[in-house]
Amino acid sequence: MDRLSTSRLTGAMSEHPILVTGATGKSGRRVVNQLRARGLPVRAAARSGRHVFDWTDRGTWDAALEGVRSVYIVQLDGTKLVRPFVERAVRHGVRRIVLASGRGIDLPDYAKDSSGILEGLLDSEAAVRESGLEWTISRPGWFAQNFSEGFFADAVRAGELRLPAGDGAASFVDAEDIAAVVVAALTEDRHAGQIYELSGPRAVTLTEAVATISKATGRDIRYVPLSVADYVAELVLQGLPPADAEAFADVIAPLREGRDEYVSDGVRRALGRPPRTFAEFAESTAVAGGWPA
Ligand SMILES: NC(=O)c1ccc[n+]([C@@H]2O[C@H](COP(=O)([O-])OP(=O)(O)OC[C@H]3O[C@@H](n4cnc5c(N)ncnc54)[C@H](OP(=O)(O)O)[C@@H]3O)[C@@H](O)[C@H]2O)c1
Repeated sequence: MDRLSTSRLTGAMSEHPILVTGATGKSGRRVVNQLRARGLPVRAAARSGRHVFDWTDRGTWDAALEGVRSVYIVQLDGTKLVRPFVERAVRHGVRRIVLASGRGIDLPDYAKDSSGILEGLLDSEAAVRESGLEWTISRPGWFAQNFSEGFFADAVRAGELRLPAGDGAASFVDAEDIAAVVVAALTEDRHAGQIYELSGPRAVTLTEAVATISKATGRDIRYVPLSVADYVAELVLQGLPPADAEAFADVIAPLREGRDEYVSDGVRRALGRPPRTFAEFAESTAVAGGWPA
């Protein structure tokens, strides 16, 4: 497609609502906010709220897709529902898809996939690439927001993060940057066919991460490295089924083993600027009241 016709396409698409799935989640909520800040029409879909969308109830899919030309897809982990959803989207006249995936999913031996999350993401990527639509794939590494809204948030608030991550470091990426890349891909023509691997500007150990959050919040927070066996035993004592506890330990393994230390250039490639630092994430989250007492 030549430049003129793709920009005409984008112009025509901007009159239609942009569907954002996972609109209450870490990346989707920010995508919604950034699109609305630009004055663009957004259909923010989740299991509750004005636009009810449930991956497990295909009867909710048509209303979500009606009149839409661009979609941000946040899949339901452990399923392969993106493929039938993309087929439905094609029937509704959708032209552009941005998919939330994950860094490392294409690397052999990246992580044990006991919950089928990596398999699901690989299937979703293939479905989007084979759709015949304009597609962009966002592959973030560990979100910085795991410390404030996700996996580690309760422990950070309680002042002690206990994980089997040793001295491992990860190049945590700020979900504000993930959302900015997604918004660029939804609204600009030049991102079609791109896979953007997203990270922060450098790797940070968990000791450094909690020290940075301590500094930003003025609270005492520490990281306690655990053995995998002790971590699983603690989760089981808290009431988790052993298989789920093992699956959580599997998710942490790449962090412990240094497989998430590398830095990716997706933020710079998509946005022409460097990614936000972990300290910027911690300071802005603290100022916004992201770690309430
Ligand atoms: N966290 C990380 O460090 C990390 C790193 C790399 C990749 N990823 C991948 O990123 C994706 C998660 O993105 P995220 O962190 O932005 O999301 P998130 O914060 O985990 O939020 C999940 C979203 O999905 C919605 N949802 C849950 N169940 C649903 C269902 N049955 N039907 C429809 N919507 C449903 C939730 O909304 P309601 O509950 O309100 O319905 C929420 O908006 C996953 O695929 C994950 O594997 C995460």
